[in-house]
Formats: sequence, C-alpha cells, structure tokens
Amino acid sequence: MTGSSEIPESFRGLRVAPSLLSADFSGLGSAVDEVLEAGARVIHFDVMDGSFVPPITIGPLVLSSIADRVHEVGGVIDVHLMVDSPERQIAQFAEAGADSISFHIEATAHAHRSLGAIRDLGCLAGIALNPGTPVEAIEAVAGHADMIVVMSVNPGWGGQSYIEGSEERIARIRELAPETLIEVDGGIGTATAGPVAGAGASLLVAGSAVFGAADPGSAYRAILEAAEAGTT
Ligand code: DX5
Ligand code: ZN
Repeated sequence: MTGSSEIPESFRGLRVAPSLLSADFSGLGSAVDEVLEAGARVIHFDVMDGSFVPPITIGPLVLSSIADRVHEVGGVIDVHLMVDSPERQIAQFAEAGADSISFHIEATAHAHRSLGAIRDLGCLAGIALNPGTPVEAIEAVAGHADMIVVMSVNPGWGGQSYIEGSEERIARIRELAPETLIEVDGGIGTATAGPVAGAGASLLVAGSAVFGAADPGSAYRAILEAAEAGTT
C-alpha cells in the first residue's frame, strides 16, 4: 500500500479478519476467494519462524502469491509477525504486498524504530503483546502504532481456547490508546466476538472458527453478526 499511516477504508469499522493459518494450503487461492466473496476485506497472515514460537509457517513468497486477488477487490493483508528480531523481515513483507505489519513487543529491543520503519514503507504499523505481558509494556510505543494486537491465546497455534479475561486487557488498552485500532487474536468465534468487540476491539481475527467450518463464508458472517451484537 502507499501513503503512510492513513487508515485505509478496509481497516475501518468493525471487521472480522479470517486467519489463513487454518486454511487448506493446497487450495489457498480458493480459500481466500471464498472469504472475500462472503464480504471479508481484512485477510490475516500469520508468520512464525520456529524461534519466537515453535512452528514455522509462511513468508513473503506466499504473501505475494495472494496479494493481487485480495487487493483487486479492495481488501487488505494484515501481516502478524511472530518472529524474533522482526526488524530484519519488515521490508520483505512490505514489498510482497502487506498493508499492515504487526510484530511482538517481546521479540525485539527496537520496537520504536521498527514501527517507524513499517510506516515509512507505507504500511500500518502494529504492536502485538502476549497474554502474559503487562499492558504497560506497550505504553511508550502505543502512540507510534496504528494498531495494537491483543493476543487472547498464546501465539503459535490455531484452534486454542480464548483466555478468559482478555476483554479486560482490551478495555485497559482502549483507555491507554484511545485513538489506536485494537485487534484481538485467538479463540474468536460467535461466543467470544461480542464481548471483545464490546470491550473496544474492532479487528477480530478468526482462524479455526472460519476455515474449520463446513461453510467458511457463513461462519465469517455469523462471527461478524455476533461482534455487531456485542457493540449495541
Ligand atoms: C495464533 C495466530 C492466530 C491464529 C488464530 O498464534 O496468531 O492468528 O490463526 O487462530 P484461532 O482463531 O483458531 O484461535
Ligand atoms: Zn495472528
């Protein structure tokens, strides 16, 4: 994307972001199309390096293979880096078609510099924090981020249960950074979407609840409806 730190329309409002981590990678293009056709406009892209978290997942080559089909319909790709020293990887993902890039506060000594580097590359800059990390850990850099990613599971795997009380962390971050987008990631489905949206999250990542369903498009819409109900 171009134009640093201006929030694109597809990131605004209440959004459910299907996470490709739970998709069938033998038909990745079809999986992406299915949720785009259902109305999804934020596609969540989980990058794991086998170091910050044990699994190894996908990287810039896979990102570039889906970028056009997402961008053609006005969608955006939301990259979640679960890697050590993310500052080494940022440029590759921006070049491959990322619209936002988030990294973990636990993974780098250079959070402030990295947020600036992401914005300079024309992407929204996000900072993520693990369930065991005090919310105060992001206080100094929150004002330099476009997005704060609140992990509601421990990063590394799809299909885990939502950690109860995560909505209280969301509410505290909402107070700490009232102007910043809040994304919640982990264990989101129809039962948890309402409470996290009500607490102030506007980007809800859902992996297994979407791609693990018989009909991912219907599952996406049901989670969005549950989120909307949580804000009224
Ligand atoms: C976990 C990833 C998540 C994952 C969520 O480390 O960051 O984005 O795909 O999966 P679910 O929605 O199944 O908890
Ligand atoms: Zn994620």
